[in-house]
Amino acid sequence: MKYITLNNNVRMPQLGLGVYLVSNEEVVDVVTHAFQVGYRSIDTAQFYENETGVGRAIEQSTIPREELFITTKVWNSHQGYDKTLQAFEESIEKLQLEYLDLYLIHWPTPMYDRYVETYQALEKLYKDGRVKAIGVSNFHIEHLERILDECEIPPVLNQVECHPYFQQKELKSFCNKHNIYIEAWSPLARGEVLADKTINQIAEKYEKTPAQVILRWHIQEKSIIIPKSVTPSRIHENINVFDFELREEDMDEIAKLDRNHRTGRNPNEMDML
Ligand SMILES: NC(=O)c1ccc[n+]([C@@H]2O[C@H](COP(=O)([O-])OP(=O)(O)OC[C@H]3O[C@@H](n4cnc5c(N)ncnc54)[C@H](OP(=O)(O)O)[C@@H]3O)[C@@H](O)[C@H]2O)c1
Repeated sequence: MKYITLNNNVRMPQLGLGVYLVSNEEVVDVVTHAFQVGYRSIDTAQFYENETGVGRAIEQSTIPREELFITTKVWNSHQGYDKTLQAFEESIEKLQLEYLDLYLIHWPTPMYDRYVETYQALEKLYKDGRVKAIGVSNFHIEHLERILDECEIPPVLNQVECHPYFQQKELKSFCNKHNIYIEAWSPLARGEVLADKTINQIAEKYEKTPAQVILRWHIQEKSIIIPKSVTPSRIHENINVFDFELREEDMDEIAKLDRNHRTGRNPNEMDML
């Protein structure tokens, strides 16, 4: 596993397991298997309704707590200062944790304009030692600028949709300038990029799978990644991306695949509560 150092000096695995759309029951075995093959970072959310199962897998494992890196997120309906503090208590109780490694605002939902006070609640949790790092998700540059202007503690990362068909070049450059990591959600575009011709040609050349080539591209782009899989062989395959390096010409070929194709929502249009 490779680690990166966040802007507050906390170390984080560059690759973790995402568990969106995995049920509370199934997630126990999935996370347990991931721990067995070397994953140490898990990305869940209040919205995924599987924090209890993730907590059970952590409780059953013998891995020391300080080796794990657990992320969860406050959902849109719980934005606002007091509601966020309450959501945090509920999440941490379900996860059965004393502290959280990373707490994120799931979506900015700018039409409700509560993300600044929500972030201030995250700052309080950070100052109180309840979380090791705080950040955001699905934030556009203009949302990040408000956080940087109106809050004290810069986010350590911005978790956004990012993959070869939606490369987020402008946001990456802004975040890079401000020492904010990009964490790529749907790093495989939910499977949509796996059949891509260029990706398959590169995969053949390196004798790797298309998923491994895409994940390796993210790693070399210096993004944090959280591929999701419930399939044991794929969970294993996805973590095995640290024993090869893509040459510059292949990185350039993948850069050309960018086509502004989202699999998820534009954050400015997200209105779900
Ligand atoms: N912050 C946000 O708003 C947000 C939004 C979306 C996602 N996320 C996070 O990001 C994580 C990953 O995103 P995602 O789940 O949307 O998409 P993803 O990781 O890009 O793709 C997951 C899909 O690809 C399949 N897959 C995984 N590894 C594979 C492999 N090696 N070969 C072939 N197929 C493979 C999985 O199938 P199987 O599971 O059947 O193996 C699943 O259908 C989520 O779980 C969640 O933690 C965050």
